[in-house]
Amino acid sequence: MKFFVDSADIEAISELADIGLVDGVTTNPSIIAKSGRDFKDVIKQICGLTDGHVSAEVVATEAQQMISEGQTLRKIADNVCVKLPLTLEGLKACKQLSGEGVPTNVTLCFSPNQALLAAKVGATYISPFIGRLDDITLDGMELIQDIREIYDNYGYETEVLAASIRSANHVKDCALVGADVITAPPGVIKGLANHPLTDKGLAAFMKDWDKSGQSI
Ligand code: E4P
Repeated sequence: MKFFVDSADIEAISELADIGLVDGVTTNPSIIAKSGRDFKDVIKQICGLTDGHVSAEVVATEAQQMISEGQTLRKIADNVCVKLPLTLEGLKACKQLSGEGVPTNVTLCFSPNQALLAAKVGATYISPFIGRLDDITLDGMELIQDIREIYDNYGYETEVLAASIRSANHVKDCALVGADVITAPPGVIKGLANHPLTDKGLAAFMKDWDKSGQSI
């Protein structure tokens, strides 16, 4: 399973990349606005931190304009992936850009049928939002499972990029149901390494080692 970082925080992405935990990065207009930085500058810098895809989202709502924005974003770096909303206009733009060989990420997916449409227009990734479904007491993980089954039924190559991940359990459940990619905030990814028994066991080992008086 690939790990994408859902962030524009250069320091946090670099820290995870140094460990070897970054297969790509996703951003959205809210993340970019929060960074307080110029959109193209920050995407260019992120693209230098990974060889994987870096999703940069269009903000137009009409297909031709989305295509034009996508082509502009692609000029920033070879690993830019154009992120498009799951609307009919977004699907139309996805069909055109995918046909030109541009990597695409269709975002804001909340139903299996939406995911089916994204696969039919050749999206590289579909981004179903788990946390936002859970927020309204629906089942985000059921959506990931349904999309996995539908894509496998027909051999669609669109990758299931599970998004809006809020917890370690989301990551584990995505791995169990076979999501191709998860994108999560840096804190969630770092938190996957934590276990209280690991901390307790390590402290006991260190204490015993100190008592032994040895060194390596
Ligand atoms: C994914 O591409 C989105 O940027 C992101 O996962 C949205 O997460 P949120 O629902 O926590 O804002």
